Amino acid sequence: MIVISLLNRKGGAGKTTASVNLAAIFAHTYKKRVLLADIDPQANATTYLNKFISKDEISIYDVLCKDTPIKEAIIDTDIDNLKLIPANVNLDNADTQLMMLPTAKEFVLKKKLRELDGEFDYIFIDCPPARNNLTTNALTASNYTILPCEATEYGIDSIFAMTEFISNVQSDVNDNLKVAGILFTKRENTTAQRYYIEQFKTNLDSYHFFDTEIRKTTVVEKSLAEHSPLIVYGKKEEVTNDYIKVAKELEQIIKGEI
Ligand SMILES: Nc1ncnc2c1ncn2[C@@H]1O[C@H](COP(=O)(O)OP(=O)(O)O)[C@@H](O)[C@H]1O
Ligand SMILES: [Mg+2]
Repeated sequence: MIVISLLNRKGGAGKTTASVNLAAIFAHTYKKRVLLADIDPQANATTYLNKFISKDEISIYDVLCKDTPIKEAIIDTDIDNLKLIPANVNLDNADTQLMMLPTAKEFVLKKKLRELDGEFDYIFIDCPPARNNLTTNALTASNYTILPCEATEYGIDSIFAMTEFISNVQSDVNDNLKVAGILFTKRENTTAQRYYIEQFKTNLDSYHFFDTEIRKTTVVEKSLAEHSPLIVYGKKEEVTNDYIKVAKELEQIIKGEI
């Protein structure tokens, strides 16, 4: 069971798009048993997969802040082999509630995921745009993290802000955590983006950069509006192929081939 968190404190970086689409490709194309955990109070991954969970239904909030067994929070999606732990607005309170725990507040999600041992090949965690107790829990439970980001000035700043956060988690609570790589999203072939990518690579030379970059295209918004991941909405689209290539690269990273 490999756990992968999609992380960046910046909103709009492409975390949710990457987590939903990578999870869908591993499930649909590679026939892996995949779970996507939505730990963002905005519940964008849940919405993308055409689910809406009311305040009274079981969600990731109950798993993190109550005694609810994780299996009770898992629901089916329209994609074979892809299950979801949905989020809803209740999660707004989770960060504070986790902070108030007297001990082991970083390990809550990790302990809950242990209840699923052997049931999934991959677990993807779509993180909120923050460095808080929710993201610390995600990283503590993860084998890998992927950092999706745009090649902009603010994009570089946000990744720098994540590097210290990741190092702290690695040294304090999870020395198994590896950075799979930085994934450029919304890629356009402009002089500005080429400049920022060069800046990124010289300033963060200890990090892997995914060879594949995700092109910017309105196809992504359309897939979101249809609540249907790219592999189903637009199998033949170039951006779908970008994500398939990222999934292959991720497999190679996990196997130690890169
Ligand atoms: N490759 C892309 N091309 C065009 N729009 C994209 C692309 N990737 C993401 N978007 C759009 O950008 C917005 C933010 O993406 P999202 O994945 O929700 O970011 P985050 O989860 O980091 O906040 C969404 O409206 C999404 O549809
Ligand atoms: Mg998101």
